[in-house]
Amino acid sequence: MVNRPLLWVAGSPRLERLVTDSRIGAGMVHRFVAGDQLEDAVKVTQQLNHQRIGGILDLLGEGVTDSAGAAGATAHYRESAAVIPARGLDATISVKLSQLGLTIDRDTCLANLGQILQQARELGVTVEVDMEQSELVPQTLEVFRQCVPEYPQLRLAMQACLRRTPWDLEALAPLKPRVRLVKGAYSEPLEASIRSGAEVTAQYKFLTDWLFEHGTDPAFGTHDDACIEHAMAAAARTGAGQAGFEIQMLYGVRRDLQDRLASEGFRVRVYIPFGSAWYPYLMRRMAERPANLRFFARALIGR
Ligand code: FDA
Repeated sequence: MVNRPLLWVAGSPRLERLVTDSRIGAGMVHRFVAGDQLEDAVKVTQQLNHQRIGGILDLLGEGVTDSAGAAGATAHYRESAAVIPARGLDATISVKLSQLGLTIDRDTCLANLGQILQQARELGVTVEVDMEQSELVPQTLEVFRQCVPEYPQLRLAMQACLRRTPWDLEALAPLKPRVRLVKGAYSEPLEASIRSGAEVTAQYKFLTDWLFEHGTDPAFGTHDDACIEHAMAAAARTGAGQAGFEIQMLYGVRRDLQDRLASEGFRVRVYIPFGSAWYPYLMRRMAERPANLRFFARALIGR
């Protein structure tokens, strides 16, 4: 479960400078990030593809507040989409709408996303949309709803920790949405999110069943054995079978499990972040696991 105090402390610009300017940050980041360049993500994808594991290319960066920044991110995403057929990769791309201008205004974001989607469709590349903090959820859902009729392959991440998610999914049901179900990685206000790990897992399982009934080709973004086993059982029960769903995991997390599931014939895809704006992503990974946190704290105090 997410360590909320750490995510809060991680918002401090001083800590960000300390981590990003030091060798500590650079050392830690290698575990979770492919590298600074798109080519680094391509190499990781090629290695995974050899093991029958797909990739999800994620250009790091979020919360862009100016149109030029959003246009720059759009150009980078288009480059990521183009590299997939050019290098014969089994990969999708995943975008953050706050990087495409969602916090500037919805039209800017829609125009940028539209460019990416059009190019991806021409290239036969699937696009996924990450879900960010709860204040961006209503607009993210709106953008997804607007784009899906023209781009039905679009996949949206939905967070089991948010109280609103079951209702949001019900509202999307007529679209038979393609969803990546995750637990949720952001620090949220109490009124918006479920705090107990057991309750989040229970909601995850409930939404898993819902997706097999009402969604299209569901994806489960989790490393939790209980959630993965629940999805496998639901796939068998509903007749979806091994081919009817995807298990998605993060680069650097439970590598053994990724390999095992792929060798057993499950569809596995790994989320591969790359780029230099890695600080918020690294902090979310630190906050997910006490062992990461202890390692991080020891490195910071130099022991
Ligand atoms: P849980 O946190 O219970 O972990 C289960 C086990 O997995 C742990 O016991 C540990 O062994 C291992 N583990 C999990 N995280 C680890 C870590 N950081 N380091 C080492 N081991 C770890 N979130 C979001 O809000 N929006 C999004 O769009 C996405 N997108 C996304 C894509 C993909 C492919 C994945 C896998 C995850 C996301 N997430 C996300 C992150 C997600 O919300 C969640 O924070 C993490 O997946 C951790 O939750 P688990 O379901 O793995 O369970």
